[in-house]
Amino acid sequence: MSNLIVLGAQWGDEGKGKIVDLFSEHFDIVARYQGGHNAGHTVRIGNRKIILKLVPSGILRPRKRVVIGNGVVIDPAALIQELEALEAAGFKTRGRLFISHRAHVIFPFHPLLEGISEKRPGRVAIGTTSRGIGPCYEDKVARRGIRMAELLDRKVFRRLYQSLAEDKDTLRAAFALGDALDLEKVRAQYEEYAERLRPMVQDTARLLNTAIAAGQRVLFEGAQGTMLDIDHGTYPFVTSSNASAGGAATGTGVPPSRIGGVVGISKAYITRVGGGPFPTEAGEAAEEELRNRGSEYGAVTGRPRRCGWFDAPLLRYTAMINGFDTLVITKLDVLDHFAEIPVCVGYKLSGKLLKEMPATTDVLGRVEPVYRRLPGWRAPCAGVTSWRALPARARDYLRFLEEQTGVPIGAVSTGAERRQTIVVKGSRLEKLLRR
Ligand code: GDP
Ligand code: IMO
Ligand code: MG
Repeated sequence: MSNLIVLGAQWGDEGKGKIVDLFSEHFDIVARYQGGHNAGHTVRIGNRKIILKLVPSGILRPRKRVVIGNGVVIDPAALIQELEALEAAGFKTRGRLFISHRAHVIFPFHPLLEGISEKRPGRVAIGTTSRGIGPCYEDKVARRGIRMAELLDRKVFRRLYQSLAEDKDTLRAAFALGDALDLEKVRAQYEEYAERLRPMVQDTARLLNTAIAAGQRVLFEGAQGTMLDIDHGTYPFVTSSNASAGGAATGTGVPPSRIGGVVGISKAYITRVGGGPFPTEAGEAAEEELRNRGSEYGAVTGRPRRCGWFDAPLLRYTAMINGFDTLVITKLDVLDHFAEIPVCVGYKLSGKLLKEMPATTDVLGRVEPVYRRLPGWRAPCAGVTSWRALPARARDYLRFLEEQTGVPIGAVSTGAERRQTIVVKGSRLEKLLRR
């Protein structure tokens, strides 16, 4: 079975866009299964830089089809804008993008109401992307959300929209969040979006399962990362969907029995955007250097990313949750200049080594990372495309990460460009890609 999930093993921004773009060559369809336009997936092709938010990275390869699955939440305005930008850049989207009729729709009142949890005094702000992702998933789980299928049925849409929009306006007024939205205008706008998107909306579970039955290969593209997963991440400092491997099945309607492998993407160090505990967050000077060398600024919000050292206990945990067959280590080149590179090998609490990932942010916020300091290589990995050409100490560093995480490294990324990648010869990843 040759369908593969590629997802983030940390707190997002691991370089999923680059790797999915690279791997999509071997697949027929690329499918997104969760999240929304909170994601920012960067692909560099030559000198061109493309940032994808809702559209799967496979769109950049002319003969591939892409699917936005039922687990995704869609802001139609953001999607249409992204499609127009892609078309203007010369990437054809017509007839290649398919949207699930079961995907939920984001409305302008969703980002507005995010202010209830993010802006009010006394609340612990998560530091969200302010895209209305959480409030839209709230409506989904509360069984009052509006999906693409309902958006396309004008009569049904008007009825559902009326009651949802009135509820939201009541909340907006009660929490004194901004001016009233012109709800009639929003409705008319969404009716226009519906017509624009109609040709793309269908039963994508059926599309994917039919394609798989006919021998086509599907690559599942995760957004965010496992530590931002609503169930398995650092709750409540998480996003509102299942970014981990299980989400690929529920978020597309492809059964787990049709998925043959899981690839975890991890930086050679670690970053996070927004609030929440971060055991290996580096001291000011090192953080600054990682941020500058790695250009660690959010692809969606432009916020500076918090930076720290590779966290092996965290990786062991996300490997367990996802069942990684192999790891891809990205941004190795960012460490080229460091004389010494700390790697966290365990967490201590009150002097005792922990065996498990703490469930509460209170405990995770108090753990002390145990570091092993590895010698840096102080030689360029940047742009290297073969394992043998890597500096010996960089290879030692990677071997150490493999030992510590218990997952074989199948590929290493040494630059943002598509080709600046090493796929390890004879690796499990190579086999998973070929099948
Ligand atoms: P994603 O959300 O997981 O797709 O990751 P982002 O695109 O948000 O962030 C990753 C950033 O690192 C992007 O700017 C990429 O162009 C860049 N990048 C990816 N791989 C490498 C690499 O190996 N080296 C360097 N220097 N940059 C990389
Ligand atoms: P990609 O796919 C990094 C973070 C936000 C915030 C938390 C909740 O590019 O890796 P949300 O708006 O989702 O409700 O915010 O999750 N977050 C991300 N961090 N990369 C992302 O996506 C993220 N998407 C959301 O910063 O801490
Ligand atoms: Mg990103």
